[in-house]
Amino acid sequence: MCKLFSIVRCFTIINKITSNNLYRSIHSFRTMERTETLSGRLSPLVRPTHYNLFLRPDLNSGLFQGTVKIDITTKEEKNYINLHTKFLNITSVKVLKNNVDIPVSKYIEIKQAEQLSINFDKTLETGIYNIEIDFNGDLTHSFVGFYLSKLKDNRTMVASKFEPTYARQAFPCFDEPDFKATYDISLVKPLSYVALSNMNAISSKVEDDRQFEIVTFATSVPMSTYLACFVICDFDFKQNEINSNGIGKNFILRSFSQKHQMHKIDFAQDIGKRATEFYIKYYEVPFPLPKLDMIAIPDYVSGATEHWGLITYRETSFLVDETTASSRNKINVANTVAHELAHMWFGNLVTMKWWDDLWLNEGFASYMQVKALNAIEPSWTMMDQFLIKTMHSVLVTDAKLSSHSIVQSVATPDEITAIFDSISYNKGASVLRMLEGFIGEENFRLGVSDYLKKYKYSNTITKDLLASLEPYFKKEYPNLSIFYIMDTWTRQMGYPLLTLSKGDQPNQYVVTQKRFLLDPEVTSTNDTDYKYRWFVPITYTSSNGTNRNIIWFPDTAENVVVTVGEAESWIKINNKQIGYYRVNYPLEMWQKLIEQLKAKSEQLTISDRSHLLDDAFALAEARVIPYDVALSLSSYLRVEEDYVPWETAARIFLSLSDKLTNSLSDNLNIYVQQLVKPLYEKQIWQKTNLGVIEGLLRTRILSLATRCQLPDAQAKVRTMFLNWLNSHGTENVLTIETDLRDFVYYYGMQSATQQEWEKLWNIYLEEEDAQEQTKLRHALAAPRDTTILRKYLTLAWDEKNIRSQDYLTVVGYISGNPSGTALVWDDVRTRWTELVGRFSLNSRYLGNLIPTVTSSFNTQLKLKEMEVFFDQYPEAGAGAASRRRALETVKNNIKWTDHNQASVLDFLKNHQQI
Ligand code: BES
Ligand code: ZN
Repeated sequence: MCKLFSIVRCFTIINKITSNNLYRSIHSFRTMERTETLSGRLSPLVRPTHYNLFLRPDLNSGLFQGTVKIDITTKEEKNYINLHTKFLNITSVKVLKNNVDIPVSKYIEIKQAEQLSINFDKTLETGIYNIEIDFNGDLTHSFVGFYLSKLKDNRTMVASKFEPTYARQAFPCFDEPDFKATYDISLVKPLSYVALSNMNAISSKVEDDRQFEIVTFATSVPMSTYLACFVICDFDFKQNEINSNGIGKNFILRSFSQKHQMHKIDFAQDIGKRATEFYIKYYEVPFPLPKLDMIAIPDYVSGATEHWGLITYRETSFLVDETTASSRNKINVANTVAHELAHMWFGNLVTMKWWDDLWLNEGFASYMQVKALNAIEPSWTMMDQFLIKTMHSVLVTDAKLSSHSIVQSVATPDEITAIFDSISYNKGASVLRMLEGFIGEENFRLGVSDYLKKYKYSNTITKDLLASLEPYFKKEYPNLSIFYIMDTWTRQMGYPLLTLSKGDQPNQYVVTQKRFLLDPEVTSTNDTDYKYRWFVPITYTSSNGTNRNIIWFPDTAENVVVTVGEAESWIKINNKQIGYYRVNYPLEMWQKLIEQLKAKSEQLTISDRSHLLDDAFALAEARVIPYDVALSLSSYLRVEEDYVPWETAARIFLSLSDKLTNSLSDNLNIYVQQLVKPLYEKQIWQKTNLGVIEGLLRTRILSLATRCQLPDAQAKVRTMFLNWLNSHGTENVLTIETDLRDFVYYYGMQSATQQEWEKLWNIYLEEEDAQEQTKLRHALAAPRDTTILRKYLTLAWDEKNIRSQDYLTVVGYISGNPSGTALVWDDVRTRWTELVGRFSLNSRYLGNLIPTVTSSFNTQLKLKEMEVFFDQYPEAGAGAASRRRALETVKNNIKWTDHNQASVLDFLKNHQQI
């Protein structure tokens, strides 16, 4: 993946000799041809130590001006200094040594490498220099870098989002995570606004015109560029003191929002306080800044970003209106808050050296968020939910040739953006959970704490984390190497399928391993050092109980033998699916496991049941076991009463239904109706005071029943929806209970008339709550009528209707509706150039649109259309891997239809009455 830029390009040259011709020089750019090869990386021998940054954004014109003074230390003798810049107008560059000007012969913007090259006539000697650069830029380019967000009534605010490579769009800088430096930041703001940054404000000075004020913040701790943050807004805040429990000082946590939304910040603030206190105790490392702010920004490209001391969020990921938010909305907010706070230590205090090791940030935060919520809200059972929220989806992605290893070499901004994906996040988190599983919870915590203490304010690679865990690992397994074991999981893609067969003795089983691929016809090339074999920790549960001791299956061993007690009749491998692998059994054993499930065996935990469902259907899809086995297993659901297995099953049925053509999915619907009915009949539609997890189960069951067209559920939903819609705008609005809104809006709209759609569209346009808006946008994509969908697609393009940040999600919603898929596919292809213009090829969301839209394609014709489209637009930017994934999925879908459709249908037809 690691590419070099090969550059034969036009460079913008700014000739600069004396300071008095500076201004003229930017207006007389000359261009020149230059041949050079650049990696896009900066020299490791020229390092910044301190930035002094002054920024003056104009909230009306959408422009900004800035000056940055950078102290650097160079350990190389060269006649140039390169640093990053993008989309900035550089108006002056000065370089000093010991306060003496070093003449700059010229400065060149190397656009392809997003760099500014400052050139000198003479070779610079090593030592300390100061660079001073004046620049200006545009806040309306996009929603990354330094940008303008639009509020109600034509008001605006400014915010920044730099991760991974956008700090260079706000100020010239050494924009790589390893270049940690301290920052003195000053921001100019209108008098009535607040200015926020990573650190606390220490002084402010009103300017002579009495309209603006310069706010200066305390010198920061050493940090990477991508963590710097600036916000200017007229928001309000609420605050609490964080109790550090003697680990560092107490400090203030504040949550900001627009003034009319202040009632929506209590939930996030409360989770934020408790999660922060949890992390301080868990990591045993003080929070190193004097304050911590969190803020919701109306235009926000992703979910949230962990800027140190000033975490920024999308409104839907932060604001909770107790009168409209569902339990799911709240859990999502809590997850996001807990995730970003985990980064304050993991990522911010200790940072990966380069983006190759992004998983150290994202995998870790994704795992820590679960631990934090499990500790502060145990009744939410987030550890069980790990399977459905994190692990099962990535086991699908990682069973394809288009996957990649966790540690992945990347160089360009597009490649860097692209690895913010489910492998870094979800596989990263899953592999850490497995590691914690075999090392033990307390050992894991101690190793992590040592790591943070040892590497604070510096940068690391994966080996450094493992080295900190090693002493604790060695206590348990003196003869094994944690480095080798983990390398098999982090340095090659994919994962193993363990296969059990009968051993020589009746109580013995032989376990073998093989890479698991969804397409059984492809063969993996042995292009990794570990030959697609893994060092696997095996645990098991048998009729006798749970065996927690690890049986190691080395990558180099042919097999391992598991010996159970004489009288044990069944065995299930991989307790709670803590190991990142799948398991296959002899058919008789599958039958015994199905019997255990049906008998509600207490030995099989919630996670075990979810695991068996997920594995069985994945193995059937990969043609390892007959679909009959997986489907028979699913029939145990008639006795299942827990949320996580039902959520697992619902996803399986959803994906199966996507694979079946329309008329055939009716057979699936009838089958699922039989399964869901017993539990459906126990649910209450009226508002109840259920616990969170019981509430999730209720929503899941009612929504699944509606989806599979259980007549009673369908009728109730349509009535409830129409009552609400028709009463809207009258004095007696019949509101729908918050936990049911999402699916009642959606399924209520499926058979909507044009008129009903218009009414909902108007409700949407008037709605101010971001989470409620999301539910409405989703429902607007539900109708089966393509004329309506076409209209929606057109209206959505207009930013006055739908913010850019939400547009691609809406396109995904419409394409997820079978009546809208073809429509969207045509539109995406026709509009591609415009889409790239609006979102840029560096957008991972644009990249992901392709797999989203094409996910249900299952014909050669569609495959051909995709290939033609990719040939027509060969530049994929950050979407290159997404295209490969999309192609592989469609090829698999085609084969699935050929090989499996008939047998699935047979089973379903024979089981319409259970
Ligand atoms: N560090 C990321 C922010 C980010 C995302 C930067 C994508 C660059 C590209 C942040 O911690 C994060 O992971 N945010 C997630 C939400 C989170 C709850 C998983 C996001 O923005 O999608
Ligand atoms: Zn993150």
